Order: sequence, then C-alpha cells, then structure tokens
Amino acid sequence: MPPTSVPGHSDTTYETTYDTAFPRDESAPRAVYDAIRDELLLDGRSRLNLATFGTTWMEDEARLLMAETADKNLVDTDEYPQVADMEARCVRMLADLWHAPDPARATGCSTTGSSEAAMLAALALKRRWEHRRRAAGRDTERPNIVAGANVQVCWKKFCSYFAVEPRLVPLAPGRLHLTPEMLAQYCDDRTIGVVGILGSTFDGSYEPIADLCLALDGIERATGHDIPVHVDGASGAMVAPFLDPDLLWDFRLGRVASINTSGHKYGQVFPGIGWALWRDKEALPADLVHHVDYLGGEMTTFSLTFTRSASHVAAQYYTFHRYGHEGLRRLHLASRRTARGLAAGIAELAPFELLTDGSELPAFAFRLTDRAHARGLHERGIALAMRARGWQVPAYPLPAGVSDTWALRVVVRTGFTPRLAALFLDDLRQAVRTLGGAVPGVVGELEELVPAVG
Ligand SMILES: Cc1ncc(COP(=O)(O)O)c(C=O)c1O
Repeated sequence: MPPTSVPGHSDTTYETTYDTAFPRDESAPRAVYDAIRDELLLDGRSRLNLATFGTTWMEDEARLLMAETADKNLVDTDEYPQVADMEARCVRMLADLWHAPDPARATGCSTTGSSEAAMLAALALKRRWEHRRRAAGRDTERPNIVAGANVQVCWKKFCSYFAVEPRLVPLAPGRLHLTPEMLAQYCDDRTIGVVGILGSTFDGSYEPIADLCLALDGIERATGHDIPVHVDGASGAMVAPFLDPDLLWDFRLGRVASINTSGHKYGQVFPGIGWALWRDKEALPADLVHHVDYLGGEMTTFSLTFTRSASHVAAQYYTFHRYGHEGLRRLHLASRRTARGLAAGIAELAPFELLTDGSELPAFAFRLTDRAHARGLHERGIALAMRARGWQVPAYPLPAGVSDTWALRVVVRTGFTPRLAALFLDDLRQAVRTLGGAVPGVVGELEELVPAVG
C-alpha cells in the first residue's frame, strides 16, 4: 500500500507499512509502552541534533513539574487560576527583561511557539493598520509586510494564511540579512510593519534592529508613513538580554511595537512554548481579544489554538526562577564560547570557510570552499556523512539572492559540551577524508586540503 499523505512530512521521511487500519482490540498497557519505546530507539538522539534551536536538555525537577501539570488545561483560568497567574507573571518578567516602558502596562501571552506568537503579533500589526486606514477614510486592500528573505517560514505562512503580501528583501553576497538601506525601496503606505530578526535562522546573525528603526524614522520624515517594527526574537530575545545587554533591539526603541520569542529555544523549556509581547495595551487592538464564558468563568483569549497543557508554562516559570538573569547568562555564555571555539576549529580546516562565527546567537553557518566544491565535495555529502555518526547538521541553500550558496549550520545549546564539540570536529575531519576517498582521483588533493587529518 502506498504511504499515506501527511502534510508536514518530507519526501524522504521514513514510512513503514504498519498501521494501515485502526486497531481492533485492546492491548496490555506495558506491552504497548514497551513496543513504542523500542520503536522510538530508531529516532535520532536529540542532544546530537545540532540542527535544532529547540531545547533538548532540562533538569529533572523541571521534567517532574511538566509531568505533574500535564493534566491542567491552560485556557481554563477559572479552574486553574495559579497557573494562569504564572503565565501573567512570566509576561511581566519578559516585559521587564525587554525594557517595556511600563512592564505593568505591557501585554502578552504564551503560545505554542514563535510561529504562533509571530502570527498573533502580525495580526495585531495588520488590524492596527486597518484601523488607521479606516479612520483616515482610506481602503484596507493589499497590505504588505517587509522583512529580509532570511525570514523563518512562519512569516511566509502568516502572509499566505492571512492574505498579506510578503515583501522579502533579497540577500546578496556579504549581506545575509535585512539592512536599513534596503527599506525605502520596499516600504510604502500599505506596509503594516517591518520584521527585524534577532538571530537569523540561517546563520545566527543579529539583524541591526536599531538601525532599521532609524531608517524608518527617516522614511516617516520623508513620506509621513509611520511603520512599526516587530522583532522576531525567537532565539535572540532570550540570548541578547543576558550576553549583549548594551545592544539596542527591544522596547527601548520607540518603534518596536511587539516581540516574540520561543521559550523552547534559549528559554530552556522542551518544545511547545513561545511568547508574544506588545509594548503597551494600545499596540494590541482590543477587537482581536475574544471572551469566553463556557469554562465556568469569564475569561479572555487571544491565540490561534485553544486547549493546551499547562506544563510548559509551569516549566517556563521554573526556568526563570531557577536560573534568573545570572544563571541564563552563565548557560548562554558557555554555549557561545563553545560555538566560537568550534567555529574557529572548523575555520582552520582547509575545505571550509565560515559564514558566521557564533559571536551573536551561539550558532554559526559554514560552507565548503569553491576549491573543495571543484574537487567534488558538497555540503549535502558532509551532512550525510555526519549523520552516519549520529550528528544532525543541516545542509541547505541560502535564501533568495544567494541561493547558489549552500550552508551547513551548527546550533550550540545547553548540553553540547566542549568535549562533544571536540568529538564533532574530529568526526568532521574524518567525514572529509572519507568523502574524499569516495571521489576518484581527488584523495591526494583532499589530504592537502585537510592537513590536520593526515
Ligand atoms: C527567527 C525564527 N523565527 C521563528 C521561528 C519559529 O519558531 P517556533 O519553532 O518556535 O515556532 C524560528 C525557528 O527556528 C526562528 O528561528
């Protein structure tokens, strides 16, 4: 029987021929548990997955809290007022961390991740733009949003799901993210906002949020268009406050209307939580927030989903209190040091060159040199060879404008120790050597490319 179509699965996803019909009979709990556990051994080992920004290590106490709160429904604030209050406290703590002018007036919510948070923030931008246009007696057709072509796919989803034109500024060699001088060509009176990315998914670099805001100030002076900024801080909004406190990127900039982050990235919680914050109540139009009364009390909801387990909010509240500012600084500094050290080690291997060096997000991208390409090596081959050793390192073409260039990316998170980094580097040397051996006639040249291997 051909595999069933499952949106979200890649063409290369492994599909078995099991379970083509709904199970008929019951089975013993232990037998089912053992069978599933055995099968899951075939999945990758999450700590060796250098492709993901998602948290793969948490303390036992946090895991326990998650298990103990899994049965609570986060949206039922009447039944579970404590966990609801913890969510509100996390919003206040983030508002303080991101320098909201008055953290008590900032508004925000937890989400399933940055994708949902980004969509809620973008919906608020769109609704605010519509209100302004209607108040001025103008049409609300053809809104657009401006961002670099390096946006994460959630922004393309937002545009296609909510009928907003994506104006994605192409990249260029040496310019791998959005820069201020590009904005004037792309923004107009139908621009609902500009997205600045703090921590590009493709190479870990920070976009210059303060300079983007300055450029928009200039555009407002020249044209009268007052265009707000949303910061997609999926990773960086939980890194920069601890490692780069002087970097201006958050609500200290008057033009920044909203920020999203993933609690499940550098917020140290297992996958399933994000946050969206608005600088003040005016930035989130009231007509986007809905009221429900069928769970026992009167409650408000602004989300793309409804029922969710409370366990991620409990775990986030744990990590904020467990680590505090100093603890997160210590953890992220260790990751950044490991990333920079590993990047420097890779830069010394002749077949590779760095695109970034791990000094912003603790993540970096690198590629094979033209010389190595000419000798038959390709980033996909390197990724496959590393996979054979258990490492997951993605190989992908860069976005529009530089899509001829392929990159490999390493994301360093808590749990990826300097020792694992040293083993990774050894395996990378070995991968080049093995692949070189597989390409007829180039072994000698590759030996010369990787002097440290020989
Ligand atoms: C910059 C950026 N935005 C948004 C997302 C989507 O985040 P999530 O997976 O939490 O939905 C990511 C994920 O890597 C990202 O890097």
